[in-house]
Amino acid sequence: MAVPVINLRPALEATRQLWSGYLEEMFARHQFILGEQVARFEAEFAAAVGAQYAIGVASGTDAIQLSLRAAGITSPRQQVITTAITAPFSGIAIRAAGAQIRFADVNPRTLQIDVDDLGNRITKQTAAVVPVHLYGQPCEIARIRALARKQGIVVIQDACQAHGATVAGQPLTSFGSYVAYSFYPTKNLGCLGDGGAIATNSARLNRTLRQLRDGGRRGGQISYLPGINSRLDEMHACYLRAFLTRLQEWNEDRRRTARLYDEGLKDCPGVQLIERSADSVSHLYVIRAARRDRLRAELAKQGIGTGIHYPVPMHLHPAFSDCGLRKGDLPHAEKACKEIVSLPLWPYLPESGALEVIDAIRHFYRG
Ligand SMILES: Cc1ncc(COP(=O)(O)O)c(C=O)c1O
Repeated sequence: MAVPVINLRPALEATRQLWSGYLEEMFARHQFILGEQVARFEAEFAAAVGAQYAIGVASGTDAIQLSLRAAGITSPRQQVITTAITAPFSGIAIRAAGAQIRFADVNPRTLQIDVDDLGNRITKQTAAVVPVHLYGQPCEIARIRALARKQGIVVIQDACQAHGATVAGQPLTSFGSYVAYSFYPTKNLGCLGDGGAIATNSARLNRTLRQLRDGGRRGGQISYLPGINSRLDEMHACYLRAFLTRLQEWNEDRRRTARLYDEGLKDCPGVQLIERSADSVSHLYVIRAARRDRLRAELAKQGIGTGIHYPVPMHLHPAFSDCGLRKGDLPHAEKACKEIVSLPLWPYLPESGALEVIDAIRHFYRG
């Protein structure tokens, strides 16, 4: 049986009736930007992630960028630190806001941002930190919040891979005023294109972010703030409202598959598991693998898809060459990027599919 790295078809089928109904409502109202579907989704999503407010925007990248803008972090004299292992878009957002980018190394056991290293890299110019809840696993956000308070810097959480995640039962918004989500199709909650949202408990930020996403306007044709055009489309809100009703169930399904992989690979020679807590919503299942590229090629021959999240640490991307770091400067991230591989993981992945992946990996290392 072929096991793709991702398959969205079953989730789309399971919710067809619901999203079809919302699409019909949208066509009947004939409003395609900032209408009833987006307003309803924003309220439903805020409730689902335990926030007072959610502001729908055009992408996760924009959710981070707009948060930085709302915090007044738009100058190249201001530095923003993020982790060396993340999607390039975490960094692109910092650039888009106008700030200078900096990176911290990762904890080799979890691959989340290393809080001690982060602390050592904070300077007088540091204005914010963008910690990422990578692979669906919350990073050490309580420690980061304490560090940021002491240093007087802003925390903008990149929760683009962590829809529905909490920390010991507490919503992510209790650790900072800005929580950025992406609705890229493959996320735990995705739409059928690009989309994103910011969750916050601040009424003031809710107002400011709504203005910033809509050209700085307040509903009319006058631009009051240096905003951008970054609105969540009504059409995407129709799908998101339908998928949101299944988010908890789908996250549980992902966790089940992750536990199968844990069990099946924990003593497999050549494989090192990455530490994960019960708070994880298992967006990706990533292992460190000896002879990684040969393993991937062998799995591909058997119809098993894999991915790499991410092949190059951020400080070695040509686009971030001005970050002040060179090869060798973030050793944990650099080593991990050569070894990591993401295994198939999606809601409705049959148990037999996960067992087949485990068998194929064990067979590769036995050989
Ligand atoms: C960790 C992380 N940050 C930011 C982003 C950017 O989100 P988007 O693709 O919706 O702009 C993504 C998704 O690609 C991501 O995984």
